[in-house]
Amino acid sequence: MHLNHKKTDLLKALQGKLPDDAILSTKEDCAPYGGDWTKLKGEPLLVFLPKTTEQVANILKHCNQLKMAVIPSGGRTGLSAGAVVTDHEVVLNLSRMNQISPLDTLGRTVRVQAGAVTEAVHEHCAKDGLFWPIDLASKGTCEIGGNLATNAGGVRVIRYGMARKWVSGLQIVTMNGDIIELNRGLEKNNTGYDLIQLLVGSEGTLAVITEATLKLVRLPQKEKVLLFSLPSLQAISDLFQKARKGPFEILAFEFFSQRCLKAVENKLKRRSKLEKSSEFYVLMEIEMGIGSESENRLEEWLEDVLSADFVVDGLMAQSTAEMKDVWSLREGITESIALTNEVRKYDTSVAVSQVVGFVTAAEKLFYSMNLGCDLYLFGHFGDGSPHLNVVRSDTADHETFIRDCELFEKELYLLIKQWGGSASSEHGVGLLKKSWVELSRTPQEMALFKAIKTAFDPNHLLNPGKIFSL
Ligand code: MLT
Ligand code: ZN
Repeated sequence: MHLNHKKTDLLKALQGKLPDDAILSTKEDCAPYGGDWTKLKGEPLLVFLPKTTEQVANILKHCNQLKMAVIPSGGRTGLSAGAVVTDHEVVLNLSRMNQISPLDTLGRTVRVQAGAVTEAVHEHCAKDGLFWPIDLASKGTCEIGGNLATNAGGVRVIRYGMARKWVSGLQIVTMNGDIIELNRGLEKNNTGYDLIQLLVGSEGTLAVITEATLKLVRLPQKEKVLLFSLPSLQAISDLFQKARKGPFEILAFEFFSQRCLKAVENKLKRRSKLEKSSEFYVLMEIEMGIGSESENRLEEWLEDVLSADFVVDGLMAQSTAEMKDVWSLREGITESIALTNEVRKYDTSVAVSQVVGFVTAAEKLFYSMNLGCDLYLFGHFGDGSPHLNVVRSDTADHETFIRDCELFEKELYLLIKQWGGSASSEHGVGLLKKSWVELSRTPQEMALFKAIKTAFDPNHLLNPGKIFSL
């Protein structure tokens, strides 16, 4: 049946089941929902903005009956094109489902709708001294549903792990319109398969997440933020080794190159307070013990580190405002780079002990290919998650850039395989990494992926073509 006929039939079927303002149908109104931060975009056939789970169920049930494909979306901050429209699909955007319930302080959980913005959840929990420990540069825009659907990582994985560890209940809606409660917030439940863990990271291909029970931790009590300049990747590793033995808990261990720092400084129009610059920088956040004893031990540790020959310079933020300033140098990288030119992102993953060797080999590969692009390196050193960002230089046009990226990535992904890594550490597969999933997955795993997809969504209508093709 022609798409426009299906559109009319769907709108007819949903008449009276959704408020008028929950449906966008003109090209102009729908356009912003066709893409994400990758800047890839398509034209949605329709956009639905439901407020309740029942509305979601109705939309999915009727799309399923009419065999219409649906793309679930939220804050659309994804970097792998997981929420991008490719073939005039219907978009189901959950941003209006943003309710956050009062905390269960005894169980240390909070129930939220999928469209709750991550930072709003943080602010809500902070009033009781609690924290949902997924912390991302995009926290002001990204939403819990997307965080869970992509198993988001961010800057505190070294301390708390990825999003999948911090959820104890999910409400999902399957393509046939069934509303299913998974695990009901139980901390312990050993009765068969863990469907929550199957849903987390499934990138909207199995079912739509409508609500979640999030597990919370105590907010860190006494944090310090430090910034170091270091001459090499090996020096970063040496510092990390010292930090691992330090008298504190590491909350973040992030690195970035001089080129990244320059891009952020240009955007923010202010310089870092380090006196001496170098090839690389590390932002380290730590949680200290209480009392003057632990302050003294930190001072001793810092003196030792600053006198080591592999550290060029270092500082410790002296106030909350300074801590924020240092963090803005790291958190501003993505947007600052995007301002410079077109970007291709490779969120690689290797064992923590292999980061230096792998990144050195990747840099060597990049520069040996004489491409018309620049390489911006940053990421989560302490998680084995370096981000390689290839940026078009002013002298290259768009077509040359895309061709160069394709040449580079073929070699890069082979290198990742050699180093026993993965094509995505935290951004997910979406459309951009589809061709490379099988480098880190076996044929048996891929066959299971496809069988699971078919069990949840037999007509293959939910976020079709993402992660893998059927
Ligand atoms: C980050 O680490 O800041 C995010 O993964 C975003 C990015 O890679 O650009
Ligand atoms: Zn990252």
